[in-house]
Parts: sequence; C-alpha cells; structure tokens
Amino acid sequence: MKPNIVILTGAGISQESGIPTFRDSNGLWENHDIMEVASPEGWERNPELVLKFYNLRRKQLKDVQPNEAHKAITKLQEHFPVQVITQNVDDLHERAGNKNVLHLHGELYKVRSEKNPDLIYEWHDDLHIGDLAEDGAQLRPHIVWFGEPVPMITKAAELTANADIFIIVGTSMLVYPAAGLVGYLRSDVQVYYIDPNAKEINIPNPLTVIREKAGTGLPRLVDKLIEQA
Ligand code: OAD
Repeated sequence: MKPNIVILTGAGISQESGIPTFRDSNGLWENHDIMEVASPEGWERNPELVLKFYNLRRKQLKDVQPNEAHKAITKLQEHFPVQVITQNVDDLHERAGNKNVLHLHGELYKVRSEKNPDLIYEWHDDLHIGDLAEDGAQLRPHIVWFGEPVPMITKAAELTANADIFIIVGTSMLVYPAAGLVGYLRSDVQVYYIDPNAKEINIPNPLTVIREKAGTGLPRLVDKLIEQA
C-alpha cells in the first residue's frame, strides 16, 4: 500500500509567487494591523476598510501564479494519495492542479452572509457595502478571522490522523488550531518541515527540518519520496 501523504501549508508556500507572508512583515499585513482587517471587531468598526482590503487581495491574486512548490505537489499526487490542508486563502494550490485541497481559513474567491456562515457564494470581483446574501444580510469575505470558529478543523484532524507521511511547508506554526494538527498524528509518522525559519516543534514523531524555501526544498523532497517509492 502506498503511504498516504498529508501536506499542511501556510503563507510561506505562496511567498515565491509574490504574496507576502503575515509574520515576516512586523505583524502588518500589506500595511495593515492584522486585527484591523482580520477580526470580527475590525469588521464591525470599519467594514468599508475590510472590504477594500480583501478586494485588493482578490485583485492581487489575478496577477500571481503558482510556483515550483505548488507544482511539486501536483507531481507528488501522480505517485501517492496526497491531501493538502492549507491555511492560505489564495487558490494557487488549485491552479497548480493540486486535487485534494482543504482550506482551513476560508477562500478569497468566496463570500458569505454576515448572518449565516453556511450561505456561501463564489465571488471573483469587488465586494461592496449593499451586496446582500439571499437572507438579506450583508456579504462579507469567506475568511476565518481571529477569534472565529474554524469549522474545517474536524475534517483536517481526521485527515491528519490518517497520514502516513506529514509534510509542513511555509507556516510559522503559531496560529491555532492549525498548529495543533500535528497532535493528531500517529507517533510513528515521519514529519518533514520545510521553512527557512523553521523552529523546533515539540512532537514525539521522527522530524526532519529542511531550512529552505518551499520552491527548492519541496521539489527536492518530492523527488526523494518518488525515488524511494
Ligand atoms: P506566517 O506569516 O505566520 O508564517 C509564514 C512562514 O513562512 C514563516 O515561518 C516564514 O519563515 C515562512 N516562509 C517565508 N518565505 C518562505 C518560502 N519562500 N518558503 C517557505 N517558507 C517561507 O503564515 P502562516 O503560518 O500561514 O490567517 O499564518 C497562519 C495564519 O495566520 C494565516 O492563515 C492567517 C494568519 O493570520 C488568516 O488569514 C485567517
């Protein structure tokens, strides 16, 4: 039986595509305090600013392309069952052809009713005050903001528990519950962690830390796994 490979990705995997990470920029996200644009309180205080911010992120997404790291995952899935769990809200995994992608923190190209988290719509253009869901409520970005529940975490934990190999790419492992997913791994599962600033993670598993950028570290690891298969 082929090992089941689960890959947890964060902002670092999209960095070489030109999307800045969160914590490499002094707590600012594209010149904004993260809490201003990624919290329910920020939304309540200034919804126009929040909409403008995500409208710009949606526009930016149209100008960037998947990089070698995203493409390496497409190659890997030709040889193994592969599941991606991403904290990213961009669609670069999908555009690279990654097939099984679970978005833990939502998606830039989706919006939802402010009142009902289950009323979700595809949305590729600007979102404005006055754009309403079917329930009459204002539409907001379909992004999990700080302090909000992470509905996909149960599914992500199940997928993690079924991993035979676990690869972590480009995440500071600071944001929970995503960072806690490693706690669901069987203790014999080999973990690889690719991040130029990777810190130690406290797990009983065999751990190989690869302090490289995703665009070089991941293709190399993928080639090694395919060779060993
Ligand atoms: P962070 O910004 O916290 O961490 C990005 C990580 O990527 C850091 O550890 C960097 O060292 C690493 N990195 C930078 N360039 C890289 C490269 N070329 N290749 C590989 N790694 C690189 O981003 P996340 O861990 O994804 O939530 O942050 C988690 C969540 O916090 C995000 O999903 C976001 C944020 O608030 C929401 O938007 C809801």
